[in-house]
Amino acid sequence: MPCPALPEGFDFTDPDVYQQRVPLPELAELRRTAPVWWNPQPHNTAGFQDDGYWVVTRHADVKAVSTNPEVFSSYTNTAIIRFNDRISRDQIDVQRFIMLNMDPPEHTRLRQIVQRGFTPRAIRALEQALRARAQRIVDGAAAAGRGNFVTDVACELPLQAIAELIGVPQEDRLKLFDWSNKMAAYDDPELAITEEIGAESAMELISYAMNMAAARKECPAADIVSKLVAASDEGNLTSDEFGFFVLVLTVAGNETTRNAITHGMHAFLTHPEQWELFKAERPATTSDEIVRWATPIVSFQRTATRDTELGGAHIKAGDRVGMFYSSANNDPEVFTTPEVFDITRDPNPHLGYGGGGPHYCLGANLAKMEIDLMFNAIADTVPDIHLLGDPRRLRSAWINGVKELQVGYGTGA
Ligand code: HEM
Repeated sequence: MPCPALPEGFDFTDPDVYQQRVPLPELAELRRTAPVWWNPQPHNTAGFQDDGYWVVTRHADVKAVSTNPEVFSSYTNTAIIRFNDRISRDQIDVQRFIMLNMDPPEHTRLRQIVQRGFTPRAIRALEQALRARAQRIVDGAAAAGRGNFVTDVACELPLQAIAELIGVPQEDRLKLFDWSNKMAAYDDPELAITEEIGAESAMELISYAMNMAAARKECPAADIVSKLVAASDEGNLTSDEFGFFVLVLTVAGNETTRNAITHGMHAFLTHPEQWELFKAERPATTSDEIVRWATPIVSFQRTATRDTELGGAHIKAGDRVGMFYSSANNDPEVFTTPEVFDITRDPNPHLGYGGGGPHYCLGANLAKMEIDLMFNAIADTVPDIHLLGDPRRLRSAWINGVKELQVGYGTGA
C-alpha cells in the first residue's frame, strides 16, 4: 500500500536520511495511516535476497514482534536491518554466531549462562570504579575548556564499563578500545573504516577474548570471565563462545550508550529548564527519559517464520519485519506529549532497550548506571556546560548517532 505522504522511493533505512535526521514525522504518518507498512527496496539491498521489508511503527506491534520469537526469527536474516550496502550474504551469515542473532533454544542456553554476569549485584560491584572513571573523564574534558563532547566525554565510559565487567587488565585496554572503535557497523565515509579494517579488528578482539577465556579456565580468578568459563560442561561457555560474547558486548554496549549520553547532553542543553531541574533534584526517572528521547537504536529486524497477521497487515513467511523503536517511543497511544523532553516522566514504558522478550537488552541496568554516573559527574563538576554548535550526525542505517557535538565548559568559549 503506498503511503500518501512519502516521496516515491523513500526508505526508512536510508543512511543518507539518518545523516540528516531520524524521520519522525514520516513514522508518525505511518502510525496514523498504515502502522505496518511495506517498504519496497531494490532486490538485494544490503545483502538480502528480497524486495523490501515491513515497517512496524506502533508500540503495541513492536512489543508483539519482540515477544514472539517462534514467529519472528532473529537468526534467519540477523537483527541488523541494513549493515551497509556492500555486505554479502556470507558476511551476514557469519554474524549469526552472536547471541543477538540467535533463536531459541541456542539463544536460551547462552543467555542463561551470560545472565550470571549481569545480576544487579554484579553491576553494583562495578559502580565505584565507574564513578571514579566518570569523574576522571569529565575532569579531563573540563581542563581543556572546550571540545567535542562525543570523543572527550561520551565515548570512554561505555568502553571502560565493558573492560571492567570482563576484567581486561589496564595495559590491554587501549588495544581493546581501538578494535572496538574500528568494528563500527556504520557506513560513514568520513570515518574511513573499511570492511577489511572492521573484520580484522573483530577477529583480533575475538582471539584476544578467547585467549583470556583459555587462561582463566587454567587458572580461575575472581572475575566474570572465570565465572562464565569455569568448567567445560553444558552450563558454561566454551572459549569460542566467550570470544563471540565479548564481540556482542562491544557491538551492543558501546555505540548505544555513547549516543544515549550525547543525545541526553544535547537535550539538556536545548532544554535548559530540564538541566536546571536535573542539577537541583536528580530525578531517578532521568535516564529512562534520556533513552526514550535518544532511542540510540532506531530499529532492529526479525524475519517471519510463517504467514501471520500484524497490525492489519498480512505478513508472509520469509518477510523481514523492522521494529522501529524510534516510532514506538513517540507513540501518543502510550506517551502523553511524546514530543516533550521530561525527565520526570513516570511511567515511561519506552522500548529503547527492546520490546521485551528473549533478546531484551542484557546491559540495560549497566547502561542506566553509566548514564546516571555520567550526568551526575557533569552536573557536579561543570554545571555551566554550554553548546558551541549543532550536532554532526553519523551516516548509519540503524544507529541514531552523533559524531561531533562541540561544547564549552566554564569560560571555555
Ligand atoms: C543506552 C544504551 C543501550 C541501548 C539503547 C541498548 C539497546 C538494545 C536493544 C534495543 C536490544 C534488543 C535487541 C533485539 O531485540 O534484537 C539490546 C540487546 C542487547 N544489549 Fe543493549 N543497549 C544498550 C546498552 C547495552 C550495554 C551497556 C550492554 C552491555 C555491555 C548491552 C548488551 C546487549 C546485549 C548482549 C544484547 C543482546 C541480548 C540478546 O540477544 O539476548 N547493551 N540492546
